[in-house]
Amino acid sequence: MKRLLVTGSNGLLGQKITDLLVQGQFPNFEYIASSRGADRFDAKAYHYLDLDITHHAQVLKAIETYSPDIIINTAAMANVDACEREPAKSYEVNVAAVANLIKICEDRNIHLIHLSTDFVFDGEEGPYEEDDRPNPVNIYGEHKMAAENLLQQAACPWSIVRTILVYGVLRDLSRSNIVLWAKNALENGQPIRVVNDQWRMPTLAEDLAKACLVVAERNATGIYHISGKDMFSICEIVEAVIEHYRLDASFICKEASEALNQDAKRPKRTGFILDKAYEKLDYVPHSFGEGLKLIDEQLAKLQSS
Ligand SMILES: NC(=O)c1ccc[n+]([C@@H]2O[C@H](COP(=O)([O-])OP(=O)(O)OC[C@H]3O[C@@H](n4cnc5c(N)ncnc54)[C@H](OP(=O)(O)O)[C@@H]3O)[C@@H](O)[C@H]2O)c1
Repeated sequence: MKRLLVTGSNGLLGQKITDLLVQGQFPNFEYIASSRGADRFDAKAYHYLDLDITHHAQVLKAIETYSPDIIINTAAMANVDACEREPAKSYEVNVAAVANLIKICEDRNIHLIHLSTDFVFDGEEGPYEEDDRPNPVNIYGEHKMAAENLLQQAACPWSIVRTILVYGVLRDLSRSNIVLWAKNALENGQPIRVVNDQWRMPTLAEDLAKACLVVAERNATGIYHISGKDMFSICEIVEAVIEHYRLDASFICKEASEALNQDAKRPKRTGFILDKAYEKLDYVPHSFGEGLKLIDEQLAKLQSS
C-alpha cells in the first residue's frame, strides 16, 4: 500500500479523484484527502484534513503526521480573472505554497504530482507537446509556469500534469464549468456571450482524475499533457451543448475575445498533443459527446436522490 495525500480535495478534480478512490478503482492507495474547510465529498471512507496549503507550518505538520509517499497538489487559485485582479493572492497559492511543498517533499523523497494548465502557453501555435516553450499571457499562466519551473529543479520525484478546460458534475453541484454554465443559462432563457476566436480541447474531469492516479500508481515522472481529444472553438463547445440538450440557440451572442473585456487576456488556440499520455499512461479520453452523456446520467442520478 502507498499512502496518497491529495490537496484541494473539495474542488472539481479533487472530488473526482476521491470518487475513484472511494469506488475502489485504485486499491493500492491509502487515501488522505485535504482541502480548505470541511469535507464536501464526505464519504467517511478515508482520513480528511482541513488544510490550507498557504499555511506552511500546518502543511509540514500534516505531512510529518501522515508520512505520505505521494502528494497530488490540485489546490490552486484557478479563476483566471481573479488571479489577474489579485496577483499577490495568486502567487501565495499558485507559487509560494508549491515551493513549500517541494521543500518538504525533497526532505522526505515524496513524489509530488502538481496540476498545471494549457495557459502556460501563449496560444499562437497550439496544439502543444510537453516540451514546447511556455510563454504565458496572463498572471495565472505566469504563476503556474513559475511553479512548474520550481518543480523541474526539485530534488524529489516530480510530475507536472497540465490540463485544459475541465468539465464535470459534482454531487454537491459546488462547481460550475462551461457545460453547466451554458446549459443552466439557456434553460433559463438567459442570453450568453460566447467567444468565437479561442480554441480548446475540453477535458472530462473523470478522465483527468484517472490520469492523475495512473501517474501516481506508475511513479510516472516528468510532464504530461492530459485533455480531451477534440479541438473546438468555445462557440462550438456551446453549440454542442445546445444540440445535446435541444436548447434555443438564439440566446447565444458570438463575440470576439476583445469585446468581452475580461481582466485577463486568454491564449487563442491551446490544445495538447496527447501521444505521451497514450503511450506512457494508457490514457483513453472520452469524446466530448460521451462526456455530455455521462453528465446526463450523473444529473439524472442527483435529481432522483
Ligand atoms: N478547471 C479547469 O478548467 C482547469 C484547467 C487547467 C488547469 N487546471 C488546474 O487543475 C487543478 C485543479 O483544478 P480544479 O478545476 O479542480 O479547481 P477547483 O475546482 O477550483 O479546485 C481547487 C480546490 O482547491 C481548494 N483551494 C484553494 N485554495 C486553497 C488553499 N490555499 N489550500 C487548500 N485548498 C485550497 C479550493 O477550495 P474551495 O473549494 O474552498 O474554493 C478548491 O476546492 C488546479 O491546479 C488548476 O489550476 C484546472
